[in-house]
Amino acid sequence: MVDSWVDSAERIGADLHLEPAGPGGRRAALIRALREAVRSGRLAPGTRLPPYRSLAADLGLARNTVADAYAELVAEGWLTARQGSGTRVADRDAASRPAERPPVRAPAPARGPRHDLLQGTPDASSFPRAAWLASYRRALRQAPNEVFGPGDPAGRPELRVALTEYLARARGVRTEPGRVVICSGFAHALRLLFAPGGAVLRGPLAVEAYGLRFHRDLLAAAGVRTTPLPLDEDGARVDRLGRERAVLLTPAHQFPTGGPLHASRRTAVVDWARARGGVLLEDDYDGEFRYDRRPVGSVQGLDPERVIYIGSVSKSLSPAVRLGWMVLPERYVDGVLAAKGEREAWASVLDQLSLADLLASGAYDRHVRRMRQRYRGRRDRLVEVLAARAPHVEVTGVAAGLHAVLRLPAGTERSVLRAAAGEGVALDGLAAFRHPATDMAAWDGLVVGYATPSEHAYGAALDALCRVLPPAPRPGPASG
Ligand SMILES: Cc1ncc(COP(=O)(O)O)c(C=O)c1O
Repeated sequence: MVDSWVDSAERIGADLHLEPAGPGGRRAALIRALREAVRSGRLAPGTRLPPYRSLAADLGLARNTVADAYAELVAEGWLTARQGSGTRVADRDAASRPAERPPVRAPAPARGPRHDLLQGTPDASSFPRAAWLASYRRALRQAPNEVFGPGDPAGRPELRVALTEYLARARGVRTEPGRVVICSGFAHALRLLFAPGGAVLRGPLAVEAYGLRFHRDLLAAAGVRTTPLPLDEDGARVDRLGRERAVLLTPAHQFPTGGPLHASRRTAVVDWARARGGVLLEDDYDGEFRYDRRPVGSVQGLDPERVIYIGSVSKSLSPAVRLGWMVLPERYVDGVLAAKGEREAWASVLDQLSLADLLASGAYDRHVRRMRQRYRGRRDRLVEVLAARAPHVEVTGVAAGLHAVLRLPAGTERSVLRAAAGEGVALDGLAAFRHPATDMAAWDGLVVGYATPSEHAYGAALDALCRVLPPAPRPGPASG
């Protein structure tokens, strides 16, 4: 199908915007306009010009006028005409070539740190290009024509059905397609839920004392005050929930410290929401990547009417795709749709269909399984290297996700980060994620993303990391 489209574009020739004007008649004006288009590089060498009749129709000229203009430009060497290949812009020699447009090229990556251990992105080299392309082609071939009209703000039914099945199977989410609303990712979901003047949610919103600053800033910009819940080894202290009507948590894998929310707290937060008429926003950002045997499903499965479940492909596929989903309690569906607007303005309908196909064909599951294995291998290597070279450093949060936290002795985080910068190692300290208003004691630590470096760069990145870690404390004097 794609091939036949290319064929017909070749046959018809490129669409061409020209404004022939000026003295000397129509033919002369057209010749000037074409010459100028070639000279300026707007028409690149080799470009096929439209057939006489279509350019004549577009410009309201007689066919012969266009034919004469082409013939003159061929004679002057601006164009070439060959039987069967139409009229094209001549590939002129370098001396007389008009200012050439440089080829379109991805910008060279800026020189960054030598070792990238920043959390946040999956392995970019593993994006399933072939599977995505196959799904895109299939989706495009099968799409009814109405797909190319304005999109429904709820999202394509194909995707909502595929997600309903997938989320139930893989994450224990209980829903039906009518409660799934497609968005462009978690950040977009927050914007929709707290849209100023919107009818869905209002602050204050309880959040974890350590979390993504970008999300806190986004909420602040929407006029939402966030109140921090302290963390301990069992996750967020949901017993400290106060007057808020909504709480945002990362229950499967606390971001960034890494533990799951303890089972008793999962039920406690649902009980709180029931008792107060509140709601839990469940950020399931990397729920697919769990490496130990204990599955941690969604809290949403405990009470679909008290939890807004939010996920995206940002960790499983790529944050560049910009596709996410909300699974909503019935009472919020209309408000979220109203916040989205009359038509889909965010998530490309073609990408939605592509993802639906990826899910329905099993290719998404295969990709997630493959990546889980790869990340588990990365995680194991990190743990082994640290056990051998820095056994005094405690590694936490490694049962899941794409990053680990190395706990540091109190008061050492800043100096370790300085040393890391000196070694060209990019990574964050826990302080970068701390809520400014929290009263919990600070946790010193490094957040080490292990998904980003390419396979061949990972060993050197781990070496460099070990070099910047604080030395083992000296054993104290032997007690008698
Ligand atoms: C804590 C957390 N939540 C959610 C997301 C996903 O954000 P988005 O879907 O807007 O890319 C991320 C990053 O991938 C994250 O780190």
